[in-house]
Amino acid sequence: MTRARIAVTGATGFVGGAVAAVLTAKGHDVVCLVRSDPGPGFPWPARRVDLQDTGSVAGALEDRDGVAHLAILNDFARMYAQRREAHDAYVGLTRRVVDAANATGCTVGYVSTDWVLDGTGHLATEDEPPNPVNFYGVLKAASEMVVLERARRGFVARVGGVQGVHRTRPAGPRAQDVGFGYFVLSLVDALRAGERFTVWEDAAINSVATPITSSEIGALLGRAFDREVDGVLHFAGATAVTRRELAHATCDVFGLDPSLLDVGPPPEHARLPAPVPYDTSMSGEVTMARLGTRAHTVGEQLQALRRERDEGRVVALS
Ligand SMILES: NC(=O)c1ccc[n+]([C@@H]2O[C@H](COP(=O)([O-])OP(=O)(O)OC[C@H]3O[C@@H](n4cnc5c(N)ncnc54)[C@H](OP(=O)(O)O)[C@@H]3O)[C@@H](O)[C@H]2O)c1
Repeated sequence: MTRARIAVTGATGFVGGAVAAVLTAKGHDVVCLVRSDPGPGFPWPARRVDLQDTGSVAGALEDRDGVAHLAILNDFARMYAQRREAHDAYVGLTRRVVDAANATGCTVGYVSTDWVLDGTGHLATEDEPPNPVNFYGVLKAASEMVVLERARRGFVARVGGVQGVHRTRPAGPRAQDVGFGYFVLSLVDALRAGERFTVWEDAAINSVATPITSSEIGALLGRAFDREVDGVLHFAGATAVTRRELAHATCDVFGLDPSLLDVGPPPEHARLPAPVPYDTSMSGEVTMARLGTRAHTVGEQLQALRRERDEGRVVALS
């Protein structure tokens, strides 16, 4: 399958927007499946679908070769407060997408997370069984299983330590959290404004990861659709780093003053009402060989991110 016709769910969001941008830049025919009108400035073709209705999703997949499924209810507090709603927004929705794809002969590419891991390993390989420590990880692991067991054609791509530019909301959200997402650009913004930045260190937060850019995730998804792979893939950078190491690497690549960095615990309000995995670094060696590319170092990922940020371009390494 080359230059596949791909539908993307979650394209109004952070990672999904990058996926839509990169797949489009690489010549794929992209259509975004949205649940409400994304407005006139939305950069890619969009189709309104009722994500509660398998038939509605199937109708939107009739002319597609694949669907990259990234839509999630991304709200930890609500997830815990409204568990049935959350289960449906993750596992139920993934089941509807898989059933719609099966009905239309589409391949499902499900974007999962390093938080399906329990955080006690290091550079976990693709055959590492999930052992999530919180409800988000449980819902993602259950959704992985739906794809692996139910999709006629499909794959699971675990991503983590995702860094990138938000394509539909360039100004944000951009703040350090107990995961690795947004870490680099929140640090860049602070130091470029001459502000100090506290790198959080704490045994109860996600402290080691293998960062990758959101654009690189898009490029790898394109390869996975083109090569019709199956099973579990790890979309991971080549370098496992701590938050402190990532902060210093960011200063090197973006030409920032590391003396503006402090180290300290996260503020209480930033903690999640649940355990968080500590070391979610993943090895993507097997995946990269299957996709005919290689994992890129943290330096390469940061150089690419700097070009994206400062030149407004889409930079995919693979
Ligand atoms: N960000 C990271 O660092 C990271 C790390 C690991 C894995 N991931 C995975 O990457 C994927 C995308 O994450 P993200 O950070 O890009 O999320 P995000 O920015 O919060 O975007 C979420 C997307 O899902 C849609 N959505 C929200 N609630 C929904 C619901 N109840 N039903 C259907 N769609 C809903 C949103 O659309 P509307 O505009 O309609 O609200 C939006 O397009 C997820 O599968 C996540 O598990 C992300």
